[in-house]
Amino acid sequence: MARTNFKKHIVCIGAGYVGGPTMAMIAARCPEYAVIVVDINPERIAAWQTDCLPIYEPGLLELVRESLGRNLFFSTDINANIHKADIIFVSVNTPTKTYGEGAGKAADLQYWEKTARTILQVSDSNKIIIEKSTLPVRTAHAMERILNANEKGLHFEVLSNPEFLAEGSAVADLEKPDRVLIGSRETESGLKARAEIVDIYAHWVAPERILTSNLWSAELSKLVANAFLAQRISSINSISALCEKTEASVREVALAIGTDSRIGSKFLNASVGFGGSCFKKDILNLVYICEHYGLHEVARYWESVVMMNDYQQQRFVTNMIKVMFNTVADKRIVLLGFAFKANTSDTRESPSIFVARKLLGEHARLVISDPQALDNARIDLQDCTQRIEFSEDPYAAAHKAHAIAIMTEWDIYRDLDYERIFNHMEKPAFIFDGRNILDHEKLFNIGFNVFSIGKPPLKHF
Ligand code: NAD
Ligand code: UGA
Repeated sequence: MARTNFKKHIVCIGAGYVGGPTMAMIAARCPEYAVIVVDINPERIAAWQTDCLPIYEPGLLELVRESLGRNLFFSTDINANIHKADIIFVSVNTPTKTYGEGAGKAADLQYWEKTARTILQVSDSNKIIIEKSTLPVRTAHAMERILNANEKGLHFEVLSNPEFLAEGSAVADLEKPDRVLIGSRETESGLKARAEIVDIYAHWVAPERILTSNLWSAELSKLVANAFLAQRISSINSISALCEKTEASVREVALAIGTDSRIGSKFLNASVGFGGSCFKKDILNLVYICEHYGLHEVARYWESVVMMNDYQQQRFVTNMIKVMFNTVADKRIVLLGFAFKANTSDTRESPSIFVARKLLGEHARLVISDPQALDNARIDLQDCTQRIEFSEDPYAAAHKAHAIAIMTEWDIYRDLDYERIFNHMEKPAFIFDGRNILDHEKLFNIGFNVFSIGKPPLKHF
């Protein structure tokens, strides 16, 4: 380390989609703090220190470079760094549990609990512990119990500072957050720790955007924010099905309702369904918590948001098969996009996975194209790659194809030369716009049979 007289040592456990970008931003804005990101995965730690970061995120490489080696460090030496930390952010993964009690809904807290035990084991000074991961409400209580049951006379102040960044816009979201939320105990030591964390963010976030609350409100607000966002997508997607039957256009409906300032225009793009590592897991986590408290009606209400999303993915692919004369066996079908949204290499819970598997089950031949996510796509579909081709070039992918499905709203897919693509496709040529990003009339005039979300189809037969 070039410098040793840092004001404080901030350590983040977990160098993933949240830990990496958030710590890079803190390091860039707070040069007087040493920021060290640790992880059990040595490849990830190594990659953060190269020009080939472990995740794709616009602007991230420049942000990391600003502080790397100055006051931003990546390390696999978890114990030594925890030992000298003043403030520890815990940003490990909290996926849905796949085994035992609560399987399929509850959050799997094993990674989170392991970090608590490591902190306890290697510490010999008081520390502030911050939940950055998304956790069930009242998790901080369990963390406090584990940590403060020590015989070393140490005090660990547990805070909740959930992260609201979205992938693909992580750097911009961190730079100008709608709000930063910091929850703590309302005791003397809790309020003192809260002030220390407020002070970090106050380096670049306006005071009115830094919200403080009690611990439980902060933990619960994170789950509720994701549930409300996902609910909007499921709501508009449910209406998209009705639009297709009634000659209404879901785009026009979204505009008409979104201009009501009480509703607002964001998050009303009907789609093949929401993906990503958090919406589904966090809603199911909320459902599980409601069930735990005996609030069955509340649980069913939120569960329906996930069910609507499953339905939307299912009906998209079922419709593809139906309109292609009820068989896709041996047909060449191109999926344009595999990431769960544009500007990310992340494919976790991407609707493309479900659609690809369903088409493969019908014996289609798939060509998968994506500008950033092909490595992850290969891993997601590793058990069934015999009938899949991977190609970064959408034109090569579409050569002699029977159908194209737009799965991710990458900008490059808006402006492809669809006339050229059409000329090299099998006829009748089908296009399924799962993101409603194309000019459907124009495609129809070129000769395509066009199927979009929430608008009646444009067919030549
Ligand atoms: P991730 O899987 O990308 O990263 C988690 C990292 O933690 C991994 O690199 C893993 O190796 C590491 N890890 C696990 N156990 C560890 C241990 N004991 N010691 C050290 N490292 C350990 O996950 P993510 O997408 O960054 O999400 C992290 C948390 O943040 C989750 O709770 C998620 O719900 C939440 N979150 C994610 C996003 C997002 O956009 N991905 C946004 C907001 C909140
Ligand atoms: C989401 C939230 O937006 C973040 O605030 C939150 O921090 C994060 O989850 C998390 O907790 O992990 P993210 O999943 O990265 O972020 O991406 P979003 O932009 O929310 O998109 C999620 C999915 O919804 C994508 O598949 C996207 O294509 C889809 N979507 C989004 C739609 O189908 N329609 C829309 O109008 C908006």
